[in-house]
Amino acid sequence: MVQPLSKQTIIPFLTEIFERRGTEEYLGEQVTIGAHMLQAAHFAQQDGHDDIVIAAALLHDVGHFTGDFIGMPLAEGTAFMEDSTDRQHERAGAAVLDAFFPELVVDCCRYHVAAKRYLCAREPGYFEELSAASVHSLSLQGGPMSDDEVAAFESHPHFDAIIAVRRYDEAGKEPGLDVPGFASYVPILERLVAAA
Ligand SMILES: [Fe+2]
Repeated sequence: MVQPLSKQTIIPFLTEIFERRGTEEYLGEQVTIGAHMLQAAHFAQQDGHDDIVIAAALLHDVGHFTGDFIGMPLAEGTAFMEDSTDRQHERAGAAVLDAFFPELVVDCCRYHVAAKRYLCAREPGYFEELSAASVHSLSLQGGPMSDDEVAAFESHPHFDAIIAVRRYDEAGKEPGLDVPGFASYVPILERLVAAA
């Protein structure tokens, strides 16, 4: 039987997943899923963000790996299956992180798709800058937000951080860009898990 993860094992577990699965294709993007998340974290760090935004950028797409989390407690209704349709990876990722990380990290993951839908509705030119794969998934994810959805989203207490992480999500798609590896973020993750 697979043991549920704990505060002691979650970071080595994430490290191993990044090493083993980080080279997988990222749904039609020109970078691997691992490079994408590492680039997002790198840009957040370069911009001087705090640990929480850096960690959220690093982990925002961890929901693509949830098949590796079987055995750990997830929120009710969250499937343990791999998500290959990109419809729910943000919920699955948030459920995984929720057991170990501060709420703000979890929300940046949970709402990174909503942030795309928000920015498509409110920021001129944002849609045109999306990658082809991101445009495709947008249609699966509900398209741009309605005015009511926009108003609700803007009132979210973590709105600014969620939008920041979304911008690093967009930025982290540069083919061939070499950035620091997962190990360089372990001290940040350890601080956050200890404090959560
Ligand atoms: Fe992403």
